[in-house]
Amino acid sequence: MADTATLRARNADFWARTAPGWVNQAERHDEIGRPLGAVALDWLRLRPGERVLDVGCGCGGTTAEISRAVGPLGSALGLDLAEAMVAAARDRFTGPGAAGPRFVAGDVETLDLVPGAPFDAVYSRMTLMLLADPVVGLTTIRRSMRTGGRLAATVFRDGRVSPWLSAAMLGAAAHLERLPPLPIGEEPGPFAFADPTRVTRLFTAAGFTDIGIHPYDVTLDAPDDPEAVTEWLIEVGPAGAAYRDAAPTTQDRARSGSARLLGRFRTPGTGYRLPAGLWLITARSDRTSTP
Ligand SMILES: C[S@@+](CC[C@H](N)C(=O)[O-])C[C@H]1O[C@@H](n2cnc3c(N)ncnc32)[C@H](O)[C@@H]1O
Repeated sequence: MADTATLRARNADFWARTAPGWVNQAERHDEIGRPLGAVALDWLRLRPGERVLDVGCGCGGTTAEISRAVGPLGSALGLDLAEAMVAAARDRFTGPGAAGPRFVAGDVETLDLVPGAPFDAVYSRMTLMLLADPVVGLTTIRRSMRTGGRLAATVFRDGRVSPWLSAAMLGAAAHLERLPPLPIGEEPGPFAFADPTRVTRLFTAAGFTDIGIHPYDVTLDAPDDPEAVTEWLIEVGPAGAAYRDAAPTTQDRARSGSARLLGRFRTPGTGYRLPAGLWLITARSDRTSTP
């Protein structure tokens, strides 16, 4: 396994290069991707007036939803490593003088405390498994919560229960150059939190209590538009940056490659049904943990 500094630099570089694809796909991703985090939002039962942090907020769609739930007396802060995504989130959801979500660019692993702490609740969708040193990042999150605050996050389980992820990537990868390194073992990546025993160990080491890890199976429903669905999945995946850098003819080949492998999830005339296997991770900040 590479050392933490290398993994952290790799993560920052990956998200800087992949961000334009996420910005491009922000509306579609908000719409189709909602089931990936809905269970965590439900679990939090946010109340008007609460202060909430969204870790790895991407282009801000989930932070905006949280902001609506806590209302004008509450606050929602989206934190993300990728400056381009934070800029897009601000463009999409903030206006002069308007109440609503706020967004900050930063690496949760290198902050002592998230600006705006303490938070009553923390939400995170599909991000925590990407941390180079998860205990460091989770400790910052826990320290940024009020005592007894609650956390709910979703991550992918084993890749075999979300097979469209690898199908979209492998179909395109055969045609693309300069792909990022694939994670090895417990290195950060989509499936780095597949083992619930490891997740419990990491959250415990970061000072969380009442840790729960619950399996959830959801389905993403996408329209019957192979071009658009394939491009969405390539752009938000590991091959996204290489795809954007490629010539149009190469992009066509990459899309066809992915579309072929994604065909088994498609019912022509109806659309795509993409099964995703998640862990819902729930926890509380401990009353007795040292800072
Ligand atoms: C898979 S995307 C998920 C985005 C969004 N939560 C969603 O579900 O649409 C992971 C996000 O986490 C961010 N991220 C990765 N590592 C991070 C870190 N160490 N600190 C803050 N954000 C990070 C990335 O920039 C990216 O936007």
